[in-house]
Amino acid sequence: MFACICMGVSEEEVHECAASGADTVEAVGDACGAGTSCGNCHSRLRGMIESHFEQSVPAQAGPGALASA
Ligand code: FES
Repeated sequence: MFACICMGVSEEEVHECAASGADTVEAVGDACGAGTSCGNCHSRLRGMIESHFEQSVPAQAGPGALASA
C-alpha cells in the first residue's frame, strides 16, 4: 500500500526511512521523496513515523523497579 501516492512511496519504504533515523515528515521526504508534492499524505506519514519510534523505544521501568534493584 502506498503511503504517498504522488511519489509512489510504499509504507514499507517509509518504515525503512524511519529505521534509518528519519524522525520527521521532512526527513522522510529528504530520504525517499514521500510527502514532497501535494502534502496530503503528511498526517499519514507523521502517524507512521510516530508509530515506528513508539515501538522502537524500550519500555520504561515502572514504579517499584528501583525497589528490586
Ligand atoms: S500524496 Fe504524498 S505528496 Fe501527495
